[in-house]
Amino acid sequence: MAARIFVTRPIPEAGLEILKREIGDFDINPDDRVLSKHELIEQVKGRQGVLCLLTDSVDADVIEAAADCRVLANYAVGYNNIDVEAATGHGIAVTNTPGVLTDATADLTWALLMAAARRIVPADRFTRAGNFKAWGPMLFLGADITGHTLGIVGAGRVGAAVARRSVGFKMRILYTDVQQNETLEDELGATRVELDTLLREADFVCLHVPLADDTRHLLGEREFSMMKESAVLVNTSRGPVLDEAALVAALRNDEIFGAGLDVFEDEPKLAPGLAQLDNAVIPPHIGSATIATRNRMAEMAAGNLVAVLKGHTPPNCVNPEALRHR
Ligand code: DGY
Repeated sequence: MAARIFVTRPIPEAGLEILKREIGDFDINPDDRVLSKHELIEQVKGRQGVLCLLTDSVDADVIEAAADCRVLANYAVGYNNIDVEAATGHGIAVTNTPGVLTDATADLTWALLMAAARRIVPADRFTRAGNFKAWGPMLFLGADITGHTLGIVGAGRVGAAVARRSVGFKMRILYTDVQQNETLEDELGATRVELDTLLREADFVCLHVPLADDTRHLLGEREFSMMKESAVLVNTSRGPVLDEAALVAALRNDEIFGAGLDVFEDEPKLAPGLAQLDNAVIPPHIGSATIATRNRMAEMAAGNLVAVLKGHTPPNCVNPEALRHR
């Protein structure tokens, strides 16, 4: 007989230990690969809890098949992979892992910002290829960071953490957000502006908004044409927040200086031409990929799942109204 719980892909042992201790039996997809929609539908049938990943598209069909399910515990802070409305309609709690990956993601944002500004990836490739014959006055000239303007699009947990890391660089900070962030204004002298103003004035533009209908393609051809030619764009949020094909054109035509992208519009596929661009740094969605962070995410996702199955309110529920339906 199938266990009450299904884990869609291997996650760190720290989370699995919690499931073993608190629930006992669970099934797990042993392969580190994304299940097809058909496989996912078959696996969720009869389960009371599913621990899923951002690579699982938990759409209305999957939710329909999960008739006995009480909780979808996402192993991520972002939950755009889940049809939350459908889950709520079926009384299924959706949980996520906020907070524990803020610092790791903010650190990676800065790693990408600096790598793109100082052209680290092509410079490294140049050295490895044996092309470094002598120090050169014009070799790999990059962009200054200190004293320049940082534009934070979305000043929530990660956006604010990225802004705080700029203190040593003595930067002017602009931000956009649906809400005023008074702490950021008081602490760092940050100024809330319209997106167009931020794009025109910032030297570094970092995206930290969740993916939703109103943030899909927030930046496209028009927005890239407004940015400074010397600007660097960093995206560690979700790929579809920007129009990747338009960004490839902007980078290719040197309309902006560079980009650091940890996420992609049609992940894991890349927009044609992106991989060939020297002014783009493109790691494979590793914003939260530190050992400690991934352990904490696993513990949190498992803890959320266990809480629901034990009849408690999970600490990180994105649709608390679903709990009231039960
Ligand atoms: C998230 O949690 O949403 C990140 O994209 C992956 O850790």
